[in-house]
Amino acid sequence: SSSAASPSDDFLRCLSDKIPTEQVYTQSSSGFMAELTSSVQNPRFVTNATVRPACIVAASDASHVQAAVRCGRRSGVRLRVRSGGHDYEGLSYRAVRAETFAVLDLARLRAVRVRAGDATAWVDSGATLGELYYAIGTANPGFAFPGGACSTVGVGGYLSGGGIGLMMRKFGIGADNVLDAMIVNADGELLDRGRMGEDLFWAIRGGGGESFGVVVSWRLKLSMVPHTVAVFNIAKTAGDGGDAAAVLAKWETLILEPFLPELTIRVVLQGRTALFQCLYLGSGGCSLLAATMHAYFPELGMTTSDCHDLTWLRAMAFISLGTADAPPEGMLRRTNNLGTYVKSKSDYVRRPMGAAAWSALFTNYLSNTTAGILILEPHGGVVGGVVPDFATPYPHRAGVLYNIQYGVFWWGDAEGDNSAAARRWLDALYAAMEAAVSGNPREAFVNYRDLDIGENVVGGGDGGMTAYESARRWGERYFMGNFRRLAAVKGRVDPGDYFRNEQSIPPLLQPY
Ligand code: FDA
Repeated sequence: SSSAASPSDDFLRCLSDKIPTEQVYTQSSSGFMAELTSSVQNPRFVTNATVRPACIVAASDASHVQAAVRCGRRSGVRLRVRSGGHDYEGLSYRAVRAETFAVLDLARLRAVRVRAGDATAWVDSGATLGELYYAIGTANPGFAFPGGACSTVGVGGYLSGGGIGLMMRKFGIGADNVLDAMIVNADGELLDRGRMGEDLFWAIRGGGGESFGVVVSWRLKLSMVPHTVAVFNIAKTAGDGGDAAAVLAKWETLILEPFLPELTIRVVLQGRTALFQCLYLGSGGCSLLAATMHAYFPELGMTTSDCHDLTWLRAMAFISLGTADAPPEGMLRRTNNLGTYVKSKSDYVRRPMGAAAWSALFTNYLSNTTAGILILEPHGGVVGGVVPDFATPYPHRAGVLYNIQYGVFWWGDAEGDNSAAARRWLDALYAAMEAAVSGNPREAFVNYRDLDIGENVVGGGDGGMTAYESARRWGERYFMGNFRRLAAVKGRVDPGDYFRNEQSIPPLLQPY
């Protein structure tokens, strides 16, 4: 006599005639761990203690996504959707508490179809940013897209969280450039923009992944750039006669003006070094850039010999891979990271910190370790107010000078002395920064997901619903005044709260 079949058995049976069996991995399949870890970027979430999926569905067609949603709902198995696997808390492939779920992996749904005639492209969510850059840059060297600096990030998660990078001062965030999308909703229907409606189309362009359905593909407006753009990396040192703190203090006063939207300089701080990374999208290339830097930012000491005139595609390879002769094909490599443990947090800065604060940051935090990093991503230009704060869910626009991403690395074990020391460093730095960064709320970026700022509470057990009030604590930090509208959209499109994780948007069923 056999007991009742488990939800995951029901799920597998339901899928069996809709998806090739070799694309469904159960925990006992020999390929399970390789599939699970294929895009994992943080070994914190592949330990023996990690709550793993009961199975992985490797979709290669929109119909597979629809089948996974329909079968998942019928059998009571939730899905975690994974595109590029870069989620900072691993929520695309693990759960914090015991739960039966399947991973719906989209890595095989990765086509990029460029339409040169009207400068648009359809890109599937499972493509990486590097694959997107390569397809559009080889179609026409005058085409570009405002993506991020890291080529292995998935398009699905990047656009779901808004997507910031070195081109947003000129073209807005990634999500500002989405014209249409195909989504599988909680009923398993495949809908385009016209059929999903404008409020759902608004929500998926920055409201965070997972909450509203599975976005299968996105139609993008391509940006037009000169046939060559200019890039440089210049490092400055702090302490012992180095002037990095003073240079940073000057840098933060240049973001809103006089720098034009075509000119972006982000900064990476590690140890005693500040690395200034520039992308210039205007005409005139390195020679005009050098003249501009001489006039407005002589403290950096930039000359034309620091600078490279490259096609946009090669410039993205320079930024992502670090050298001017880096072949763009290098951005097609998909890599995972199972060696270095990472924890990240984020902030937004709305008034200059000043040289004394930068100097203290180097002395008290950065020079104590080389295992910590700060990335400063300047706003201003188009992202800084041309597009209003409510145009998409991404609210960190007017008045923002820059985003800070803090990261700390360690080796050895997920939990233990190394982890504790790394966390102490990060938490002390984050506490010390409070006075300098935005407050009420202290803003954070959803794409740099951080469970320290709050986790959902689900009422009434597994079949229950995420409580709206429990989510406000983290939700208003990511989305500010847009959080409530996101919850109202969620209440309309997924009132049963099927698509959820520890930081999904809660359904607001009775707007009040
Ligand atoms: P992953 O597959 O892990 O998904 C992330 C979240 O979105 C999960 O909740 C997942 O369920 C959901 N999701 C994924 N695909 C979905 C889909 N098709 N439909 C619905 N929900 C979906 N960000 C940035 O804006 N600018 C940057 O420059 C960088 N740089 C960067 C570098 C590195 C090394 C890392 C690790 C991360 C970044 N990021 C970033 C952050 C990155 O944008 C963020 O982690 C994205 O969520 C990653 O997207 P993936 O598809 O890779 O993640």
